[in-house]
Amino acid sequence: MRVSALSPSNSAGGLTILLLLLDFIAPAATVKHENFKTCSQSGFCRRNRAFADHALAPESNWVSPYEIKENTLLLQNGILTAEILKTVPGRTEKVVLPLNINFQKNGAVRVTIDELKRTKGDIVLRGESKARKERYNEAERWALVPGWDVRDDKVVYDNQKGQITLTFGPELKYKAIITVYPFNVKFERDGETHVVLNDRGLMNVEHWRAQPPEPEEGKEKSPEDLDGGWDETFGGNTDTKPRGPEAVAMDISFPGYEYVFGIPSHATSLSLKTTRGGEGAYEEPYRLFNADVFEYIVDSPMTLYGSIPFMQAHRKGSSVGVLWLNAAETWVDVVKEKKTKTDTKTHWVSEAGQLDVWVFLGPNPSTLYKTYGELTGFTKMPPTFAIAYHQCRWNYVSEDDVRDVDRKLDKHNIPYDVIWLDIEYSDNKRYFLFDKLAFKHPESMMKNIEKTERKVVLINDPHIKNTNDYHVVEELKSKDLAVKDKSSEIYEGWCWPGSSHWIDTFNPAAIEWWKSLFQLDKFKGTAKNTFFWNDMNEPSVFNGPETTMPKDNLHFGNWEHRDVHNVYGMTFMNATHQALEARDIGKGKTQRSFVLTRAFFAGAQRIGAMWTGDNEAKWEHLQAALPMLLSQGIAGFPFSGADVGGFFGNPSNELLTRWYQSGIWYPFFRAHAHIDSKRREPYVAGDPYTGIIRDAIRLRYTLLPAWYTAFHRASKDGMPIIRPNFVVHPDDEEGFAIDDQTYIGDTGLLVKPVVAEGVDKVDFYLADDEVYYDYWTHKIYQGKGRKDYSAPLDTIPILMRGGHIIPRRDRHRRSSGLMKHDPFTLVLVLNKRGHAMGFFYHDDGESFDYKQGAYINRQFMYNGSLKTLTSRDLHKDRAAGAAYKKVAKALQVEKIVIVGASNSLDITALAKGKSKAKALLVEEDDGKIKEWEASLSYTAAADKDHADILVIKNTKLKIGNDWTVYLEQVGGEKDTPKDEL
Ligand code: NOJ
Repeated sequence: MRVSALSPSNSAGGLTILLLLLDFIAPAATVKHENFKTCSQSGFCRRNRAFADHALAPESNWVSPYEIKENTLLLQNGILTAEILKTVPGRTEKVVLPLNINFQKNGAVRVTIDELKRTKGDIVLRGESKARKERYNEAERWALVPGWDVRDDKVVYDNQKGQITLTFGPELKYKAIITVYPFNVKFERDGETHVVLNDRGLMNVEHWRAQPPEPEEGKEKSPEDLDGGWDETFGGNTDTKPRGPEAVAMDISFPGYEYVFGIPSHATSLSLKTTRGGEGAYEEPYRLFNADVFEYIVDSPMTLYGSIPFMQAHRKGSSVGVLWLNAAETWVDVVKEKKTKTDTKTHWVSEAGQLDVWVFLGPNPSTLYKTYGELTGFTKMPPTFAIAYHQCRWNYVSEDDVRDVDRKLDKHNIPYDVIWLDIEYSDNKRYFLFDKLAFKHPESMMKNIEKTERKVVLINDPHIKNTNDYHVVEELKSKDLAVKDKSSEIYEGWCWPGSSHWIDTFNPAAIEWWKSLFQLDKFKGTAKNTFFWNDMNEPSVFNGPETTMPKDNLHFGNWEHRDVHNVYGMTFMNATHQALEARDIGKGKTQRSFVLTRAFFAGAQRIGAMWTGDNEAKWEHLQAALPMLLSQGIAGFPFSGADVGGFFGNPSNELLTRWYQSGIWYPFFRAHAHIDSKRREPYVAGDPYTGIIRDAIRLRYTLLPAWYTAFHRASKDGMPIIRPNFVVHPDDEEGFAIDDQTYIGDTGLLVKPVVAEGVDKVDFYLADDEVYYDYWTHKIYQGKGRKDYSAPLDTIPILMRGGHIIPRRDRHRRSSGLMKHDPFTLVLVLNKRGHAMGFFYHDDGESFDYKQGAYINRQFMYNGSLKTLTSRDLHKDRAAGAAYKKVAKALQVEKIVIVGASNSLDITALAKGKSKAKALLVEEDDGKIKEWEASLSYTAAADKDHADILVIKNTKLKIGNDWTVYLEQVGGEKDTPKDEL
């Protein structure tokens, strides 16, 4: 440990800070619970839970005090506006809350409730703060895509005695039924209610009020004097709350839905548990407040590093969802009520901001993800290297170290694409400057790495060291681009560098400045193969409340940190992403960015990848990772990973090996380790572990074409890259909660990693009666239910579901870049009826040319009755596609593997080994029919429990072309032998 690098440079109270820092670097037993609030320690959460308890108590005869003022209702251009009046006990004047319901063409609906007094700025701030007086209304700028507002102008309005019905959406299938008093909104589809807002009357908009004076002795305090509504102290930090209490809350019910998913990130199961106590339930609500919760505990609703307030409710035949568009600290309670059916009832509470909730009426998972993605954006198409293997550690400490790791991975034939440099690369935590001793010649290091088409990722955090003689902090200050404290002075806090300031990336000028810092001629030592990692961007502040920034800090436009907390990390990541995309990599050319972020919010999927932060080298953390990543996927941010090996601690060789076998299925696949942990690069453990890990990583590389295709689908319609059972089998009720196995894209690959010590088998859950084959032995698994699968340490449990075609690249190289000219293999996994179908997407993997149509997008169909394999063009613009095909003409399919060949083909002759195959007829783009030289090799099934395999070699098909392969005469009597078998 290089403590000198961590010592505060200009330290007042240096010792305390050093201890604070050591707290972060020393392996502790577990998360420091006492650093983070429980609901009862957070005023607005406590108040709203108490509000709910009161409202739901049978004796309270609760009626929600919100009512629509009917004569204010107006429907115009797909937006319904009205005023909601809130009755406040003891007050004659009602609080006016403007309501706005926005109907979108794709069927999504947005319900926004503001507070008139605050919108007019007609409130008095407490203390000296210069904070904005309005409720924050800019979360949409970050979370939603530009141009999101595509209005439904066909909404039909009907008002019948206090009940307003709006019919809307595709084919006018949806209804929003608004009850005027007490205010609530029911959303119907196909005549059934799916979502109800304010169903239980827990809506609560804490209206502005002046702080009532302390009650005289013996007198009760004013009802306007809300508990925890004013200055609030936690862990020695006082939040001054210049606008007083201002929480917004609403309950949202999903009648008939037993399962809800989403609201990442929590180390919990995919299917969300209930949160009001009882068996198997949590006591605490799910919390969404981006925080540096290192060494987090698993199976907990505790907050983590990022937040996506999107929830999906699912039942047989239907999926619906909501997005609670609020960037402030948020808590969500979940309860389930069992009558004839189970209803899930949720309660959302945010500390500040507008009440802004989006409703999506599905009707199924894929339409839900598409609609949600049309609003918040789809995951962006990453450069190819980003989905390959990343080798990281805190820290590769010098150029020699980097060279050594690079060589050793090569020596052991372990492919990798990216080597990562953590904070110790920098000159005393002054990012943008390399440590001059350890990294004397970063340019040549980059060049050396580039030789094998590999990349380097550097870390870059939002805290800027507060020190003399550092151009970055000087510019930050002189240009006035930093976050301010409550007195509008530059905010100072502590992080890795010691005293630091934070860039305010809400400020467009800060983004422009940040962009300039990354140009290759400015950031000396970087090259076009250098990419970036944004860490600590919750933001993490070691001496701040709950390890983050004070909520009364001020950002651009004088928004309080409280208003924007959950979105800050994403704005920082956005600035880095923009900087990378703007970087001139030579001759005015640009390339796709790659940015990894720890903090995120809805919409961050448009920018880069995330990982689940500081996990531990423990089996329960390995187990927790898959459900967490599945949850990321269904919440629209599928480019996600967890530190392979576990960040803190030292994994046993068995754990490390199992973690690699699991990690190859993470959309973002990176090994990482804490500075105090022992070296654990894949070659360290020695055989058999090293060999097994190498095989696992190689499998990831073999399947890169399938992964890239899955990313493409996610980038177009939001389908998760790794998919839980309920997404693939939305009507299989038994499988709804399953989160320990996953499907990979559309490949039909079903994997179930081993995540427990000393275990040598897993039990797959099969949701249907389709035939599944073991990836390795082609053993057949069939029949709905649990199937035992033997998985000794050298075996990765993988099944292939019949009916799919998997694109692969089978040649082993040192990096994905070195595979770019390699031919492809198509694996046809025949279903029971002998058919199969699959997809393939390809582009240059680095430039933006794909946006101009420079890509290949194919659908492969194997028709088991006609015995033909056809490649069909899915390119939207065939002319542009044709131009790219010329570039990619050397890309061939070299091999076709047919698993379960006898499900379609008459293989009798082949099986006897006497017949030769007729040459295959191939119809290519040019319309000509050619006979093709191809050799076949056939492996008969070992027994009735295994599939037979036909391999067609030397096919020489151009992967970008239209073609059909005719197999009807393979093995048949009329064969004209042309090829050696
Ligand atoms: C915290 C991050 O979560 C971890 O991945 C990183 O290694 C350390 N910061 C040091 O930068």
